[in-house]
Amino acid sequence: MVLRMTHAAAQSGSIPFRAGMPGARALAVRTEAVIRLVGLRKSFGEQVVLDGINMDIRPAETTVVLGPSGCGKSVMLKHIVGLLNPDAGQVWFEGRRVDTLNERQWREVRLRIGLLFQMGALFDSMSVGQNIEFPLIEHTTMTREERRRRIAAALETVDLRGIESKLPGQLSGGQRKRVALARAIVLEPRVVLYDEPTTGLDPVRSDGINELILKLKREMGVTNIVVTHDLTSARKVADRVVMLLNGKVLADGTYDEVARIRDSRVQHFLLGQYVRGDDVAIPEQSDTSGHREPADTL
Ligand SMILES: Nc1ncnc2c1ncn2[C@@H]1O[C@H](COP(=O)(O)OP(=O)(O)OP(=O)(O)O)[C@@H](O)[C@H]1O
Ligand SMILES: [Mg+2]
Repeated sequence: MVLRMTHAAAQSGSIPFRAGMPGARALAVRTEAVIRLVGLRKSFGEQVVLDGINMDIRPAETTVVLGPSGCGKSVMLKHIVGLLNPDAGQVWFEGRRVDTLNERQWREVRLRIGLLFQMGALFDSMSVGQNIEFPLIEHTTMTREERRRRIAAALETVDLRGIESKLPGQLSGGQRKRVALARAIVLEPRVVLYDEPTTGLDPVRSDGINELILKLKREMGVTNIVVTHDLTSARKVADRVVMLLNGKVLADGTYDEVARIRDSRVQHFLLGQYVRGDDVAIPEQSDTSGHREPADTL
């Protein structure tokens, strides 16, 4: 059972899917979920990671995904961009079923989705400009001058100017995250996925990233999905919070609504306590900097 507080949130799992209805298409494009996960299941060997995830991601909203380490947040994001295939269930993007696509078709869908990896991996041997240019060369026929202007605009968006010729090694952690975000948005995606965007940053730099997440939604209508352990960040950026536990959606609502849910598992997570009997340790609320994952994970 999913713990929900509001009427609106309670409706979120049941918005009728209208993609196939003639005449309803134009309306549906505006109102239907941008991303829809239906009964998503994924196991690795004996380990069940996703155990029937149902989720609608609404357009131009910021959905924050919370949950203990190892609960499947990154695995869920990987399904949204086709880096993993579900064992059962479906993934829909803009009214189109995508989990059945081949690799060539996925490339087209991925152009609409920006991805900020867990460690914001940049190519260290390439300059900032070349890092951001990479998707433009791969996926567009822009001229050199068009690319130059687009790179400058992306850097401007993340409040960094004139650092095209710098190498990633010459930047601070916060600047690297911003450059990675500039690269993620340079193709002007409709959806941006962030896997722990503030991890390892001090509170001021973290807040800078929060502001950028809000700005992308506000100024470009981006649909954001933010996976985080950082509850301060969650509270600030979330229109909606989805909490995962044991492969299922445990709670769904605004931050304040979820915080009011009188379920010990929800409360323990938000208060940063270990839940006895669970097989996972819940991270300390204040300890968002100690969390580490290898750079090659999503
Ligand atoms: N490719 C894979 N092969 C085998 N097991 C995997 C694979 N990817 C993830 N897992 C396992 O699935 C579980 C969920 O992993 P996932 O990376 O989604 O966790 P998470 O919720 O993102 O955790 P964190 O908050 O620490 O990043 C973990 O137990 C992980 O070891
Ligand atoms: Mg993860």
